[in-house]
Amino acid sequence: MTQFILVLDEGTTSTRAMLFTHDGRPAGLAARPVTQHYPAPGEVEHDADEIWAGTLACAQEMVDAAGGAGNIAAIGITNQRETVVAWDRMTGEPIGNALVWQDRRTADRCADLRAAGHEEAIQSKTGLLLDPYFSATKMEWMLANRPAVRAAGDRLAFGTVESWLIWKLTGGAVHATDASNASRTMLMTLEGGDWDEELCDLFGIDPASLPRIVDCAGAIGQTDAALFGRAIPICGAAGDQQAATIGQGCLKPGHTKATFGTGAFVLTNSGERPMRSSNRMLATVLCQIGGRRSYALEGSIFVAGSLMQWLRDSVGLLVSAAESEDLARSVADNGGVYMVPALSGLGAPHWQAEARGLIRGISFATTRAHIVRAALEAQAHQIHDLMTAFEADGVRWERLRIDGGMVANDWLAQDLADMLDIPVERPASIETTALGAAMLASVGAGIHPDLETAAAAMDSSVTLFSAKLESKERSRRLAGWRHALSLV
Ligand code: G3P
Repeated sequence: MTQFILVLDEGTTSTRAMLFTHDGRPAGLAARPVTQHYPAPGEVEHDADEIWAGTLACAQEMVDAAGGAGNIAAIGITNQRETVVAWDRMTGEPIGNALVWQDRRTADRCADLRAAGHEEAIQSKTGLLLDPYFSATKMEWMLANRPAVRAAGDRLAFGTVESWLIWKLTGGAVHATDASNASRTMLMTLEGGDWDEELCDLFGIDPASLPRIVDCAGAIGQTDAALFGRAIPICGAAGDQQAATIGQGCLKPGHTKATFGTGAFVLTNSGERPMRSSNRMLATVLCQIGGRRSYALEGSIFVAGSLMQWLRDSVGLLVSAAESEDLARSVADNGGVYMVPALSGLGAPHWQAEARGLIRGISFATTRAHIVRAALEAQAHQIHDLMTAFEADGVRWERLRIDGGMVANDWLAQDLADMLDIPVERPASIETTALGAAMLASVGAGIHPDLETAAAAMDSSVTLFSAKLESKERSRRLAGWRHALSLV
């Protein structure tokens, strides 16, 4: 009987479980939506119990599809990063809702810390910039504003989403986080280090409430036998953007991928040493195996697929996200309409937590198609800004590998190639995040000796998009974008 790898992919808007064969072929999928809670403008929360219930239900469905837990060689976990869960170690219950990576409520605190001169030391230790995006100020906020979190004392456990899932899957036996997720908290030293005492002090976090930092591939824990009929080893864990980088086979320095999920995240593999950016990019752990870390330079854009969702669900301009491709093609150009999708502030390279979105250039000639096209064009504009910042840091993209739900849209993929003026490659399967987690789990379970061997076993066919746009038109678009950006 075939043995499968079970991947649990807990994203911002959906929880999924997928089965993979050892050569990376998808063999099953179960999904559940994740409810978004918006208590106030700029605030985003998730119910950690719902995340766990959805994960368990999807995993159980896939275990059944595999013919039982005995046919699952290992579990790999990948997740929305930075989102913080607080829970009680005794009861295993969350204490209040999770604060999601998009949540901006600690913007003032970040501005104060910046004004007090903390950013340089934080960047040099963690590779990150002072922004509410990261976990540390969210934990600090929970301690300051939720009496139950403070009152939990020794029973308090903090963790990002993979840590919460590992805890629940192991029946409370393992409180661990992998180094790629830990590198997004703003509490871990980037180079070979553990939780940093000074940073924990600065944010008032007791290191005893934090998980143990472990490898992304290896024996992380065993699931509670009661969950799936028998114990399954958890052998892989990584943040979703790091997992997508691995799943795209970006295993050599210089290899670059962009994932278009809720947000858009570009990571360039920077090898065995972290690269500190002078242009407001992030240095981050790509993965840790056998205690050795590799790193990536990252540009994080907060709004990508969520913009199409907003146009569909809140504004009613789209019936389905897929309709956006036909609409974009139905008009000759954007009709002078530009959209800056700063719906939850601007991430890299601008880092304006207080910025909000705008649509400019509307006239009576503007149609629904122009607005939708402007929303799609904004993706290439944002990635172009990242490319410019990466170049200023000395990192030139030769080609860009793309993935994520949005890039099923051929028009968008072509627009990226046109605006970046480099070849853009889309893999046959755009499930690269889950694939990366499957590769890590297969290495952790000893099925493949290393990631290179795991990558060589996978289907590497791609669709290539080459730039066709005239440079005059590219310059016109970029000038329109920069003008719109200046108005935010
Ligand atoms: O850093 C946030 C990121 O991990 C969210 O990913 O897939 O939910 O857009 P996604």
